Amino acid sequence: MSAVVDLPEEQHPDRVRLRFLQSGEDRAVKEARVLAGTTIFDAASWNGVAIDSTCGGHGTCKKCKVKVVSGNAPISPVDPRAFTIEELKNGWRLACRANTQEDLTIEVPALQTRPKAALAGVGRHIILRPAVQKRYVELVESTLEDQQSDLERLLAAMDDLELRVPLGIVRELGGTLRRANWKVTAVVADDLLIDVEEGDTSGSRHAIAFDLGTTTVVATLLDLETGLPKAVRSILNSQQPFGADVISRISAIMMEDDALERLQRHAHETLQQLTDEVCAEAGVDAGEIYEIVVAGNQTMIQIALGIDPEPLSMAPFTVVARRMPEATATDFGVTVHRRAPAVTFPALGAYVGPDIVAGILATGLTLDRRVRLFIDVGTNSEIVLGSSAKTLATAAPAGPAFEAAQIRCGMRAADGAIEGVKIVDGEVELTVIGDVAPVGMCGSGLVDVVAELVGAGMLDHSGRFVLEASERFGKIGDENVFYLSDDVYLSQRDVRELQFAKASIATGWNILCRDLGIEPGEIAQVLLGGSFGSYLSAASAVKIGLVPKLPLVRIVSAGNVAGEGAKIAALSVTERAAATAILDEVEYVELSGRADFNDLFIDQLKFPG
Ligand code: FES
Repeated sequence: MSAVVDLPEEQHPDRVRLRFLQSGEDRAVKEARVLAGTTIFDAASWNGVAIDSTCGGHGTCKKCKVKVVSGNAPISPVDPRAFTIEELKNGWRLACRANTQEDLTIEVPALQTRPKAALAGVGRHIILRPAVQKRYVELVESTLEDQQSDLERLLAAMDDLELRVPLGIVRELGGTLRRANWKVTAVVADDLLIDVEEGDTSGSRHAIAFDLGTTTVVATLLDLETGLPKAVRSILNSQQPFGADVISRISAIMMEDDALERLQRHAHETLQQLTDEVCAEAGVDAGEIYEIVVAGNQTMIQIALGIDPEPLSMAPFTVVARRMPEATATDFGVTVHRRAPAVTFPALGAYVGPDIVAGILATGLTLDRRVRLFIDVGTNSEIVLGSSAKTLATAAPAGPAFEAAQIRCGMRAADGAIEGVKIVDGEVELTVIGDVAPVGMCGSGLVDVVAELVGAGMLDHSGRFVLEASERFGKIGDENVFYLSDDVYLSQRDVRELQFAKASIATGWNILCRDLGIEPGEIAQVLLGGSFGSYLSAASAVKIGLVPKLPLVRIVSAGNVAGEGAKIAALSVTERAAATAILDEVEYVELSGRADFNDLFIDQLKFPG
């Protein structure tokens, strides 16, 4: 069966159109538009076209043979080693070496080997191509007749790689080679030689993907041979005593001389504690962790790297660098392999930061033809809307409604938190985490109770309690409250906080829909992410107008997308490049100062029910 996929005809000077003719099982035809200069291999794997490979696109296996049948792809230096002159004339190229400079039609032979792949992100199939590679080599011992240097000898055995070599490697190389009887394993991260190990250690390579959240920090230890996680741990960010959100942490830094240093130390301790825990759980020596990837919001990343975050908190909200310079695990206070690089994500802006770029990568939003909406619900909510044709992003200051401390009976999603509420025939049914007596409510409980009160006619569309509608209403001081249990209640002020938060978020996605020229009803899928969003009930989110009114099956929880993005970047350099490309592909929309913001915001304040 053949399926021709039509793409929008939008022109872009830096993009080329590729047409893949597959000769595999379904003989499908696929088209893709990619930035000029992308290799055919990368373009294919981003668009789900499987090309043979056992080296993961590093130019060594010579299995990624494709035939360019229209358009011209330059012959790479490696091509003549893989093809005859006749084959080269006929358009045969190694896909991973072939840069696209113009529109091409490419025949892709059927797979001979199954590429190793892992499922990560929101149902994404990631072809394994880690930056960390190992090469076992057996060198010929130097003699008086052959006085090649130790380093030349090693590099000649890997002449398909162009490597940067740190001084420390050279310092130790002579001893290592001789002790190991010239049988060694080179450890490479991207183009950097990070170690030469004695003997054959090529079966063992690991990385840790961190999600450095303001509240929670998660570490996943990944086996880069299989792409599978070997251990996952999460703990609270030990910066908590400085305040629950990024603004209070920045304020602490502005007020106290040594606060940046102390906050940085707390971030490092948190990351190191997780490293110790995942290594112990997986039984992996920390020295075998050759790379770390850190996703987090811009404030968390800047603090962890010891960079003053103050400019992020005030207009014009400047990030120190959209792409961080090369960093190492040591810069994040993490003791793993001593030369392990630390990979970070770029930032679109101060409030659409590296965590959201990681999230976009995990959702595959910019790779999908369907228009999808991704909302990371939090104190500062990030909203991304688009498809492979065009994607827009914005940040909506949602205020403290989702922050436990600002809600009268608010708490984190821990034992005793009401996380679900139903009102049936005036009776309240609660779902409490840990099956214990309720002591407070978390974000999902708050959204649920408000949605249910609206549905039961106990809260009007303007957000005011209908006091005569239930005996559960009472008064604390001057304030009207609705009792969920003897000790846990929802106050009128809590409702107002939520109302502002959801109006802010809804105004954000309405503006993005306007700018993209679509109606909210045309959105194919809504992905709710972040520590609040992932736990919201789709029905309640629709009822209060937090998300567009769509069939509930189209509203899905995306989970910890920043952490998933970090895992994906550890598993594939191709995906890592896609994350960097997000900077150019996603357009940032500034909400403040927009003429249409106020009217829309006022409209969105009411509860649709
Ligand atoms: S993928 Fe191995 S040589 Fe291209």
